Amino acid sequence: MKIYDVKEVYRADEKRYDGMEYRRCGRSGVLLSAVALGLWHNFGGYDVYDNARDIVRRAFDLGVTYFDLANNYGPPFGSAEETFGRILHQDFSPYRDELFIATKAGYTMQPGPYGRGGSRKYLLASLDASLKRMGIEYVDLFYHHCMDPETPLEESMGALAQAVHSGKALYVGLSNYSPEQAEKAVKLLDSMGVHCLIEQSRYNMTVRDPERGLLPVLREKGVGFAAFSPLAQGILTGKYNRGIPQDSRVHGKSIYLTEEKLSGVIEQARRLEELAGEAGISLTELALRWALRDSAVTTLIVGARTPEQLEENVRAVQAGGLEPALLDRIDDILA
Ligand SMILES: NC(=O)c1ccc[n+]([C@@H]2O[C@H](COP(=O)([O-])OP(=O)(O)OC[C@H]3O[C@@H](n4cnc5c(N)ncnc54)[C@H](OP(=O)(O)O)[C@@H]3O)[C@@H](O)[C@H]2O)c1
Repeated sequence: MKIYDVKEVYRADEKRYDGMEYRRCGRSGVLLSAVALGLWHNFGGYDVYDNARDIVRRAFDLGVTYFDLANNYGPPFGSAEETFGRILHQDFSPYRDELFIATKAGYTMQPGPYGRGGSRKYLLASLDASLKRMGIEYVDLFYHHCMDPETPLEESMGALAQAVHSGKALYVGLSNYSPEQAEKAVKLLDSMGVHCLIEQSRYNMTVRDPERGLLPVLREKGVGFAAFSPLAQGILTGKYNRGIPQDSRVHGKSIYLTEEKLSGVIEQARRLEELAGEAGISLTELALRWALRDSAVTTLIVGARTPEQLEENVRAVQAGGLEPALLDRIDDILA
């Protein structure tokens, strides 16, 4: 008789939907978990598979339904989708209909003229390749990862609409679009009979740009908003406030978060941590509850190196909004 490792038989927590808030995504039928898991870091081909698997399982057990991928997440490119596909196959076959799986194409994926941008040629081939890597028949959401000024917007939006009409994506979204670009793209999609579900951009206490144009446009058009890097890649957990820990993105020599970038915001992070302490909560909690304070924000896409980090981030938002007086003091620090 084969003795199975307990990890081989995954049964999701029966209470998984009890502690999570689900927010309506713009004017649509879709509810998304207020905290989503992003697989940009820690799920690539060089990362530890069992750890990646533990994080995804813990996420689902905590009520996370939205999993955010892209064709080029890894490294190497494509490997986060392969990791996720392996986890799906091993653990989540009974749960596919409970998962909201997103992927994207836009940034460089492969060499040559069809490996980046916004052409129909690249976007649709990339979607097919993503489905293959994950071993699934459709994604719930397919994003154009970044606007391509050299491709007519009609062509990029036509490719997204085609993804929906072919049944390979249930919904489509935009990422890193300016308010003006987003408005045009949403109109174009409407004219093709497809509602844009969501826009995804960086939003956290150190980057407030979406407040200045994007969020009002999305609200008016009935489009949801996914905030990525809500912890500013870890800075807003306070982990760098007393130096650079060994187990951190900066210590790992990330090209996306460097000591130089850190130095520009660390003073603010220290003051915010002090304020959080006065309010009796952690900086992580302050940052995530702050980012969810506007109902135009549908979900926060957090990253996690460990299941424990993910758990802390999910628990952080359970207390809901922040007091107006606390919000004012945050504004003073960020001014
Ligand atoms: N559309 C786009 O262009 C775009 C761009 C970027 C990201 N995204 C999406 O957004 C997702 C999240 O981005 P992100 O990883 O920058 O998000 P983030 O949540 O701001 O940062 C996550 C990182 O912070 C640290 N961290 C998280 N929780 C922690 C905790 N409780 N205690 C201590 N450290 C903690 C971990 O890094 P260390 O432990 O390694 O320090 C973790 O990997 C991505 O996976 C991706 O899906 C999209």
